[in-house]
Amino acid sequence: MDKLLLENSLALVDLPDDGLTIRFYEILFERYPAVRPMFQRDTKIQAEMLHTAIVSVLDNLDDPQWLTANLGSLGRRHADLGVTAPMYDAVGECMIAAMAEIGGGGWTAEMSAAWTEALSAVSSLMMAGYPEEEVDSGAA
Ligand code: HEM
Repeated sequence: MDKLLLENSLALVDLPDDGLTIRFYEILFERYPAVRPMFQRDTKIQAEMLHTAIVSVLDNLDDPQWLTANLGSLGRRHADLGVTAPMYDAVGECMIAAMAEIGGGGWTAEMSAAWTEALSAVSSLMMAGYPEEEVDSGAA
């Protein structure tokens, strides 16, 4: 994973006051209105939490243990929220759309590729925290 490219490209689009993640939620709810009712919290607070999560992941990109533990437990909470695999694809698509829109002419295909890879790795680590199917725990 190209940490420098991720950091530099994030710096390009990381607007003040969680502007990037606020724009991300606008795009998500416009393109995927079905997920809108899942979000109970004020969007500004949600955007702040997502922004913090992205920065923490970048800060810990060299620490597989941190990533596995923290993204696993974040994923466990998303399992309870009913978040499915296709929703992760939608989130990745809309995050990159928000970045490309804000980055304008300074945003490159290479940056989109780096973020596609990073967000897909994050999604996999989150889904690794999902509980086993009921069938495995049922009979005891
Ligand atoms: C890149 C992947 C994602 C990251 C880093 C992320 C991050 C977060 C964080 C930090 C929270 C705050 C609560 C907590 O820590 O448990 C949260 C809550 C939440 N996330 Fe995610 N998330 C991701 C993917 C998704 C996807 C794909 C969906 C489904 C569309 C989703 C739906 C939600 C909902 C519904 C909440 C709770 C909102 C509320 O309480 O109102 N997330 N997420």
